[in-house]
Amino acid sequence: MRTIAIINQKGGCGKTTTAINLAACLADQKKQVLLIDMDPQSHTSLGLNLKTTELELSLYDVLLAAGDQDGPRLEDIAVKVTDHLALVPSNIVLSAFEQKLSGSPGRESRLLQAIERMPKQYDFILIDCPPSVGLLSFNALRAAQDALIPVEPSFFSLHGLGKQIESIQLFSEKLGHHIEIRTLVTMFDRRTRIAREVLEEVRKHFGKRTLQTVIHYNVRLKEAASYGTAIADFDRYCAGYRDYTALSRELAALEAPTVADRPVYKQGPKPVRNGILFSFDAPDVQSLKLVGDFNNWTPDRSAELAKGESGRWEKVVPLPPGKYHYKYIVDGAWKADPANPCNVVNDFGGIDSVIEVAPFEFPELMKTEESDRGPDA
Ligand SMILES: Nc1ncnc2c1ncn2[C@@H]1O[C@H](COP(=O)(O)OP(=O)(O)OP(=O)(O)O)[C@@H](O)[C@H]1O
Ligand SMILES: [Mg+2]
Repeated sequence: MRTIAIINQKGGCGKTTTAINLAACLADQKKQVLLIDMDPQSHTSLGLNLKTTELELSLYDVLLAAGDQDGPRLEDIAVKVTDHLALVPSNIVLSAFEQKLSGSPGRESRLLQAIERMPKQYDFILIDCPPSVGLLSFNALRAAQDALIPVEPSFFSLHGLGKQIESIQLFSEKLGHHIEIRTLVTMFDRRTRIAREVLEEVRKHFGKRTLQTVIHYNVRLKEAASYGTAIADFDRYCAGYRDYTALSRELAALEAPTVADRPVYKQGPKPVRNGILFSFDAPDVQSLKLVGDFNNWTPDRSAELAKGESGRWEKVVPLPPGKYHYKYIVDGAWKADPANPCNVVNDFGGIDSVIEVAPFEFPELMKTEESDRGPDA
């Protein structure tokens, strides 16, 4: 079972459209799918023609009762949409969740608890998140293995993307829970320069984390939503249906993240404001150096770490986005990082530690935008 949170704090970038249509296209391929509406705006529920004001019980009741054996469960409130697709609806009451649970321990794990209590009958669980940073989004991330971030091509969306990724990584680091981040370009219109540039930038900076599928701007997707139906049941000959079918195939074909893929920052290298902080606890050691792809494995003086009073050695290395192999040299002996479980066998049969640095900024696009606006803008 794969749980995917469709998340972006920026509003109107295609989260709900992606949640509904990806779910329907996965269901079309005979995958069992549960779609969870985690947004008090309840657009996913409305987009599938559910009258949210008439609900006796909704996601809010399930989340409040998540630890209670006798309370309502996800399967009690899930509504069958098709043979392969079920919807967990929400309504405006869900907006009280954050305040209601303020200060309660484990409040970010309520959705995970509810999912774990449910019979294991789904291949995919998709969660449509609200356009805000808060307890609802944290619950979605805590329950998910993947975060799918729709990016609609505009200057502001690209700027916010770095912040969004940073906040997911911080959350993931704080809880020690790995989340595979993937970006999806939506509402793409090839005729506009900004759309082409955003796609290029996202692909350049995110590499394999950018999904190959691009969702084109297609008015039939809007129309399907206004009729309360997914595109698969509305028009199978439009670009919207083709795109979401391609996306469902691409996601279904991707391996779930494995332990070896996981960049774990909890104990190993940590992103800090001016680079990556490498640290190593070794009070009795006399010399400690850091070598890797980033310094051509050269153990010269610039590779030395500084020793603090507590016996912790530290060094901040300004690393651009990418994947790096590295090792420590501890009193002359080459060693993988004991605090980083991410490692690979190198060409010489030894073990290298691995770190992946995610991008935060898109300076080239910003430059273009500034020059577009001209000096008076
Ligand atoms: N590929 C597309 N082509 C045309 N219109 C689209 C496309 N994707 C989304 N839209 C339209 O853009 C608007 C915003 O989309 P959507 O509601 O999916 O965004 P959202 O990220 O869920 O918004 P919110 O942040 O408010 O939850 C809607 O009117 C939707 O119909
Ligand atoms: Mg939405």
